[in-house]
Amino acid sequence: MADGAFGLSKELELATAPVWAKVRDHVTPLEWPAQAALIHEINALKRERDAVILAHNYMTPEIFHGVGDYVGDSLGLAKEAAKSKAKVIVQAGVHFMAETSKILSPEKTVLIPDLKAGCSLAEAITGEDVRLIKQRYPGLPVVTYVNTTADVKAETDICCTSANAVQVVEWAAKEWGVDRVILIPDEFLARNVAAQTNVGIIAWKGRCIVHERFTASDIAEMREAYPGAEILAHPECPEDVLSAADFAGSTAAMTDYITSRKPKQVVLITECSMAANIQGDVPEVSFIGPCNMCPYMKRITLENIRDCLRDMKFEVTVPEEMAERARLAVQRMIDLPPPVVPARYDLVKARHHVAVELI
Ligand code: 13P
Ligand code: SF4
Repeated sequence: MADGAFGLSKELELATAPVWAKVRDHVTPLEWPAQAALIHEINALKRERDAVILAHNYMTPEIFHGVGDYVGDSLGLAKEAAKSKAKVIVQAGVHFMAETSKILSPEKTVLIPDLKAGCSLAEAITGEDVRLIKQRYPGLPVVTYVNTTADVKAETDICCTSANAVQVVEWAAKEWGVDRVILIPDEFLARNVAAQTNVGIIAWKGRCIVHERFTASDIAEMREAYPGAEILAHPECPEDVLSAADFAGSTAAMTDYITSRKPKQVVLITECSMAANIQGDVPEVSFIGPCNMCPYMKRITLENIRDCLRDMKFEVTVPEEMAERARLAVQRMIDLPPPVVPARYDLVKARHHVAVELI
């Protein structure tokens, strides 16, 4: 019976009211009845299937606030996958994240709502490429960004994310007793890490199609138009973008920066949903564009999450022999102590000489 607001039943209106309070600036009253019903249905299916939804910070607000049991950056999602007690993991994110969950939790059923939710970085390199790199640089440790496929992780010594890349690179150099490491496949992350360490970096020419599009002149324009705004950028951006920003870090580090410091005005140089999601928690902060949309992340919707749980599709698997080798690399990263200071790339400005060799 439609006795509540937006033509919802009173029960549905009450059940979804806390979510509406967080998404109301980004979802129209016209869209809300269908979304509220899907959120309710998904949350019931989760209980039925003993499932947990791990949602990346780039999910749309109705997913992020409505059905995500754990929301966070790649590092946080991987840690959560390793310790979750649920039987089923639904990855509301991209394919490499679902593979990472499966690698860490081989006994669980890992589902992704759309198999085409890929990543330009993961597509930039193969396991065969890594074998050739190792032949060319024998004895150097291979540090691989988690934004890679399982066959690449299987060729890796240790993984990293944007939250811990500097720490991992320095750990690997010390552990192997060398002054250079291979850090693949994101060229810009490699350059930004190199600006913060004395360890030499050998990098690959992979790019994130979302972050490579930002330029230093975008930042200059924003500074001129909004002189009081604080500018935060993701380390997958080109290094001159980071140099011009006030802070750089993983999606979780940017969220922490905003929720703890509550700057009046913020420009987030990253994927569009980030600002919308944080806004729900800090309504007093005003967010100013620009942002770029990740077409892979945006393949995940409430509809296909519902279908995924209802029909138990699409299952993500990794051949056991490959998973075993990849697990070593991911687990090594997870076992490192959390960085004392979360990765901050704002030291970029202070460095002049950056040793990066591009393969
Ligand atoms: P984070 O690890 O910062 O969440 O980044 C993942 C990603 O895909 C960014 O483009
Ligand atoms: Fe990959 Fe970039 Fe999309 Fe992240 S934002 S999933 S790195 S393409």
